[in-house]
Amino acid sequence: MSEQTNPRRVLVLGTGGTIAGRAASSEDNIGYVAGQVGVAELLAGIEAAPGVELEADQIAQVDSKDMEFSIWCALARRCAQALADAAVDGIVITHGTDTLEETAFFLHCVLAASKPVVLTCAMRPATALSPDGPQNVRDAIGVAATAGAHGVSVVCAGVVHSAVDVQKVHTYRLDAFASGDGGPIGFVEEGQVRLARPWPEAGHGVEAILRWPHELDPPRVEIVYSHAGARGALIDALLAEHAEGAPGAVRGLVLAATGNGTLHFEIEQAAARAQAAGVLVRRATRCAQGRILPKPGDAIPDAGALSPVKARIALMLELLGAPVV
Ligand code: SIN
Repeated sequence: MSEQTNPRRVLVLGTGGTIAGRAASSEDNIGYVAGQVGVAELLAGIEAAPGVELEADQIAQVDSKDMEFSIWCALARRCAQALADAAVDGIVITHGTDTLEETAFFLHCVLAASKPVVLTCAMRPATALSPDGPQNVRDAIGVAATAGAHGVSVVCAGVVHSAVDVQKVHTYRLDAFASGDGGPIGFVEEGQVRLARPWPEAGHGVEAILRWPHELDPPRVEIVYSHAGARGALIDALLAEHAEGAPGAVRGLVLAATGNGTLHFEIEQAAARAQAAGVLVRRATRCAQGRILPKPGDAIPDAGALSPVKARIALMLELLGAPVV
């Protein structure tokens, strides 16, 4: 007689993206509108593995290039609720690929993810002749239903990435993400996870974010690129607003630095003016791999291995009194 086990319950949250995109023709993989198909409809075409029960909830319906802090907070709140619910074993979030790594990192920073929170996506719209979304969702559900899994991860093309390391690295290929030096957490093979390294740490719940009022903007943090021929004018324009005390004026600046955190001298001088004016400044490397190795006497703190977009989130949270640990 076979032993009866309780079904694993996975909550699937929809936020839009190409995975929910529609094109006029099934041959068109790029001329679609993202965020059209509801998450319940996406799931209707997918058979979960035996012993897995699904529940769906639509949190947003956007092209992820237009992702906003208010959606992140709504998503974090719904995840926190599900993490506290003993009836839920894991969470899957369907999301656009373009800012997926930002949402994943934000959730990693603000959730005590003692259960798996798995973001997934697609590079082809739902209407494509051969869409990649259904398999990605199925794989993500497999990860979310895995006993012992925890932390925030990203599943795409059979690879499980950590929220901290993942980056979109390709504009078109289905396997569009990479984990840099750290490598992936593992792989999904026929619904089973093969771990390459341990699950990431679960992190702490950040109450300030979970209670963040919908209408309130977060502290403004801008990213400025250092490049050949760079000028400090952009930073000075931001500082002029800051000096006038304009509402929503910049409070933090991430410099997308060259190599091991170096800056064009014009950017460096403007950054010093920003620091003197009370703006928090950080350096993050433009390189896709590696980390900034700090040197004695560095005038501007570095963001380690964080990419500029993730360093921006970390600085925003620091300004909110919830530094990334
Ligand atoms: C998006 O990020 O929402 C559109 C692009 C994609 O999902 O691949």
